[in-house]
Amino acid sequence: MAKTVLVSGGAGYIGSHVTVELIGKGYEVVVADNMSNCDLTCFEGVKKITGRDDIPFHQIDCCDSEAVNRLFDEYKIDAVIHFAAFKAVGESVAEPLMYYRNNLVSFINILEAAKNKGGCNVLFSSSATVYGEAEVLPVTENTPRLPSTSPYGNTKQMCEDILRDVVFATAGNDGADGQGVVKGIALRYFNPIGAHPSALIGELPRGVPNNLVPFITQTAIGKRECLSIFGNDYPTEDGTCLRDYIDVVDLAKAHVAAVSRMVEGRMKEGYEIFNVGTGRPVSVYELVTAFENVNGLKLNYKFVDRRPGDVMAIWADTTLANEELGWKAERTVEETLASAWAWEKHLAEQK
Ligand code: UFG
Repeated sequence: MAKTVLVSGGAGYIGSHVTVELIGKGYEVVVADNMSNCDLTCFEGVKKITGRDDIPFHQIDCCDSEAVNRLFDEYKIDAVIHFAAFKAVGESVAEPLMYYRNNLVSFINILEAAKNKGGCNVLFSSSATVYGEAEVLPVTENTPRLPSTSPYGNTKQMCEDILRDVVFATAGNDGADGQGVVKGIALRYFNPIGAHPSALIGELPRGVPNNLVPFITQTAIGKRECLSIFGNDYPTEDGTCLRDYIDVVDLAKAHVAAVSRMVEGRMKEGYEIFNVGTGRPVSVYELVTAFENVNGLKLNYKFVDRRPGDVMAIWADTTLANEELGWKAERTVEETLASAWAWEKHLAEQK
């Protein structure tokens, strides 16, 4: 029988791509989303891509524990992938309580349901932000986490620790009173970019984008006047920051690999962590140039001061994910940037 995966935040950018890949591999998916940071565009796109009009969709807020419990009562859930969280670094500095309440309470509710309803596999969407300004690059999963510079980053670290502790505490549960075993994987994403090759789903930032690629595509289409490149005086080859840009479809496939490992009982520990990146550092300037070249256009950009809180460089050692998950990033940065541009043009055609 097909395994069922609950995807919280499944109507969002990464969640929608993961839903498509899970369905492609024969999983049943239940989507839960409170629609606080998206509309139905991506969910409709998911239905078109998969040809499935019957994907269960529940507009609930995971901070509502009763609503989360009801989902676990209604479906036999084999794994949960928890995306539902706020993710704007700057906003988290201005509104820390909002971030702590939302990101922690929603995850605690998911874990409580997972534990109390007979046990479950839980995949948490973590971030390379937990490494901060690492001294040694690339970072492995054993690279020490550094104190976070934002409440957003803190919530990622805290949720990792909460998951680890719940896995440890439930390891001996025997199902009495419904109390089951929770197993967990945290995937630490580097910088997710790009869109599905169909251009039917992609990133839909609300307001002015914080992240680089949506800002680039919105500048190219004329929604923004000029891209500001934050800092060209870093001690890197061209003076701009280095990141590990991971294609969102590749990232989605890493989730399928991790879910399969959990539901097929192939985990080596109850709680595991994997870096999900390409292993290749790319500078902001290189990315901008690659975008121009692959799409045959010129971007209006200027160099401005460094953005406070940015690390100079971070990229992943992906050996563990490659070996243990049998997963590797496949799309080139050019393919990914072409897909991001196709998505932006698709959005413009909808208007
Ligand atoms: N950048 C610019 N101009 C922009 C936006 C970004 O030059 O308009 C630069 C940044 O300075 C940085 C690089 O592009 O050097 C990437 O910036 P992003 O904002 O796209 O991503 P970050 O590396 O800052 O990472 C943040 C969070 C992560 C999260 C990631 C993707 O810290 O936790 O965004 O959402 F995973």
